[in-house]
Amino acid sequence: MALLLGNKLIFLAVFAVGLWASQGWSLSFFEASMEERHEMWMAQYGRAYEDSTEKEKRFKIFKENVEFIESFNKAANKPFKLGINEFTDLTNEEFRASHNGYRMSYHPSSSRTKSFRYENVTAVVSSLDWRTKGAVTPIKDQGQCGCCWAFSAVAAMEGITKLSTGKLISLSEQELVDCDTSGMDQGCEGGLMDDAFEFIIQNNGLTTEANYPYQGVDGNCNSTKASDHAAKITGYEDVPADDEEALLKAVANQPVSVAIDAGESAFQHYSSGVFTGDCGTELDHGVTAVGYGTTDDGTKYWLVKNSWGTSWGENGYIRMERDIDAKEGLCGIAMQPSYPTA
Ligand SMILES: *[C@@H]1O[C@H](CO)[C@@H](O)[C@H](O)[C@H]1NC(C)=O
Ligand SMILES: *[C@@H]1O[C@H](CO)[C@@H](O)[C@H](O)[C@H]1NC(C)=O
Repeated sequence: MALLLGNKLIFLAVFAVGLWASQGWSLSFFEASMEERHEMWMAQYGRAYEDSTEKEKRFKIFKENVEFIESFNKAANKPFKLGINEFTDLTNEEFRASHNGYRMSYHPSSSRTKSFRYENVTAVVSSLDWRTKGAVTPIKDQGQCGCCWAFSAVAAMEGITKLSTGKLISLSEQELVDCDTSGMDQGCEGGLMDDAFEFIIQNNGLTTEANYPYQGVDGNCNSTKASDHAAKITGYEDVPADDEEALLKAVANQPVSVAIDAGESAFQHYSSGVFTGDCGTELDHGVTAVGYGTTDDGTKYWLVKNSWGTSWGENGYIRMERDIDAKEGLCGIAMQPSYPTA
């Protein structure tokens, strides 16, 4: 039997290897050594290390992370998967230090209105994806600069601009990084979305991404560029805190800036599915809720746009569990949401 089926078996084996390969990195089957995998990963993400000491150090971290990812996925006891992405050679501490940047301890500025315009919304659609309404620009990448707050505020502003003018315009985070420096916001060292909205109001708008492109480092404000406004907002409002139902009313009407605790390893390595934690509520990252829905098996989720490039998560997005028992929401997502008005 085996002899007769020889050719077919070989064919099947080739097919199986092809399948494994097409699954990306779940390769432990036909064993690329960990060194080879690190080399392949370096090539894929264009990573070069200063010297062999650094490479050795990064290899160790890469290996530990890959082992963590594989054992997590093997356990298969969560509705989400982890995966190898461009952050796999960073420790969680390094990652947190360089890719977050929400300053939880600062209190939002004073001139925000106290009203919540969506408080009397009674009916919302059962699921919504603002991407399909043309209100979300492609995923951006903050790089190693802790200005998540700028990306979060800009994404929310791009959304309300589309809804109020019909135009989707990619707007400038670098303008916020360089020019929004007289208050609490500190460029790559962190900031708050509400303070970004405050600045944008005072500045009479924001220019385009194309006019003031992202550099990923703190720079001097180019006031010529910063005065060339492509979009404006009239104000901003905070969603009542610790209230996922209020957040739903807001997200049903526009993309909303949210702060989350993105500090856990599972978040760094998140790849797909509905993220359920673990995570705490030490808000350290600003992102944007751009929709919500329910999976086939009944898990409710928020659709969240991140600013870590497209290698992370579901092409740069994460679905986070919605309507959990804790009033703060998963990772504190319901603690400090806000949105610009126009
Ligand atoms: C919501 O309804 C109440 C009661 O009718 C009203 O006083 C309040 O102004 C409404 N809020 C908004 C934002 O329209
Ligand atoms: C500021 O922006 C203007 C317009 O794009 C440009 O001509 C000028 O060179 C910039 N200034 C600096 C200091 O980069």
